[in-house]
Amino acid sequence: MSTAYEITDHIHDVLVIGAGGAGLRATLGMSDGGLKTACITKVFPTRSHTVAAQGGIGASLGNMAEDNWRWHMYDTVKGSDWLGDQDAIEYMCREAVPAVYELEHFGVPFSRNEEGKIYQRPFGGHMRNFGEAPVQRACAAADRTGHAILHTLYQQCLKRGAEFFVEYVVIDLLMDDEGDCCGVLAWNLDDGSLHRFRAHKTVLATGGYGRAFFSCTSAHTCTGDGNGMVARAGLPLQDHEFVQFHPTGMYGSGCLITEGARGEGGYLTNSQGERFMERYAPTAKDLASRDVVSRAMTVEIREGRGVGDEDDHIFLHLEHLGEDLLLERLPGITESAQIFTGVDATREPIPVLPTVHYNMGGIPTNYHGEVLRPTESDPDAVVGGLMAIGECACASVHGANRLGTNSLLDIVVFGRAAAIRAVETIKKGSKPKPLSVDQSDRALGRLDVLRHADGASKTSEIRGELQRAMQRDAAVFRTQETMQQGQKNVDAIVNSMDQIGVSDRSMIWNSDLVEALELENLLACAQATIHSAVARKESRGAHAREDFPDRDDENWMKHSLAWIDENGKVTLSYRPVHTWTLSDDVDYIEPAARVY
Ligand code: FUM
Repeated sequence: MSTAYEITDHIHDVLVIGAGGAGLRATLGMSDGGLKTACITKVFPTRSHTVAAQGGIGASLGNMAEDNWRWHMYDTVKGSDWLGDQDAIEYMCREAVPAVYELEHFGVPFSRNEEGKIYQRPFGGHMRNFGEAPVQRACAAADRTGHAILHTLYQQCLKRGAEFFVEYVVIDLLMDDEGDCCGVLAWNLDDGSLHRFRAHKTVLATGGYGRAFFSCTSAHTCTGDGNGMVARAGLPLQDHEFVQFHPTGMYGSGCLITEGARGEGGYLTNSQGERFMERYAPTAKDLASRDVVSRAMTVEIREGRGVGDEDDHIFLHLEHLGEDLLLERLPGITESAQIFTGVDATREPIPVLPTVHYNMGGIPTNYHGEVLRPTESDPDAVVGGLMAIGECACASVHGANRLGTNSLLDIVVFGRAAAIRAVETIKKGSKPKPLSVDQSDRALGRLDVLRHADGASKTSEIRGELQRAMQRDAAVFRTQETMQQGQKNVDAIVNSMDQIGVSDRSMIWNSDLVEALELENLLACAQATIHSAVARKESRGAHAREDFPDRDDENWMKHSLAWIDENGKVTLSYRPVHTWTLSDDVDYIEPAARVY
């Protein structure tokens, strides 16, 4: 059954989809540059998932001890297990210092050291002098850094008069026959109306897809919406096999305990009370890179040294740090440990478990935030009118494993970069490309089919199956057998979408329909993840294969590209990693063994 819909038209210079840190930093910069900018977001801006980022934003300010952006670049390349593009990494680490001072001037209430400068704490994989010893690089606002940044950026956007469309769900990109993006179709949840937005550029800033997994630190809104739209537009998703497990998700709820807790001196123990990280990472110990710590914890549990009644988790100790420090530096996690695990962190250890936290892969872009449609002859070819920034994008600065604090950095640096590019390339006052009726019809068709779906399966049932399959088979450790089973299961779940039933037909606050639309996006993300993972026959960063335990630079130092057709068939291709830097005075960092 199909319905005739009335659509309201809008014209802007730029559309920003998503109002997390990346979307807001881009919106702010574009408004500053005189572009008519619309920020379209499915949740109220200050509810975006950036609000949950805790421990800090990485920048080599050197406020606590000597630091250098080149050391930060080295750590990021090493953390990425040499899958990151070094031109983009150079850009991010060099821009980090001015980006943090800019945030300070915007009003972010950073914690202070004794000299009154921005306080910085140690974090995993942050080292001085090219890997020598830990350095304090994470610029922190207690353990609520994302919250502080998000609120400040939103206020700065309001000050500039940016236009917000809040609680609007974007259904799909509007792509023309030349393959360029001309805008989006969106649904206003509040009154049920539909809106066609046209613009010179559409910037996706829609966040990650943690909710494809059963246990994650991500908000329920992290459903890979931009990635889903890109896949449906016939564009590839890059490096989706690299999914980060954060070592310290709270046992049970999966809520985040910041790595800043270990930065402040916290440590992990097994059932024998042993500080086991000393065996796995003799130099960095509990502050090794996240993939290294998550694997070590998983090995301890597997080998029977887990804690608790089921021997299935690990203890994080903060009690020795004392109440004063916990209340000053880590008040948020002290409170949430009490709420979610019933533990008083000032007296007893917190039960923790590696938990899905971040997607290194995403929509391929260059370091300006322009989306790529790689071809064999031009692996860096750009799609007209389309940009992506933040966790939905893959620039690729995180490669196979992201360093903690580089996500907040990524969103502000590339949010700003996208704004600079848009201001440079859009001719003010010019009209965006015209749209054909067909372009909106495809997006409307998607909405209409799901709205009237009357199958026997509930959205929550299909999503639950997906989440369990991904948790089981796209895990910390992977084998051909488990991943192949996972791939079969995920593909079958995609096929089962023809049995979905949406119970509510209304257009106003229809959460059942929103969740069905989100589920389609999660499915595209999951397919790209599991197909790319099965194919990659090596271990690199967060992709740890028991059957291929070594990194294989000769055959696999390349980005995976997953293309998904309208029938859910996945085809893989690859594009080379950028092995160059932007400046003559910065050398390419040669691949080396990754030890901490
Ligand atoms: O552990 C944390 O505070 C998380 C930070 C991050 O993912 O960058």
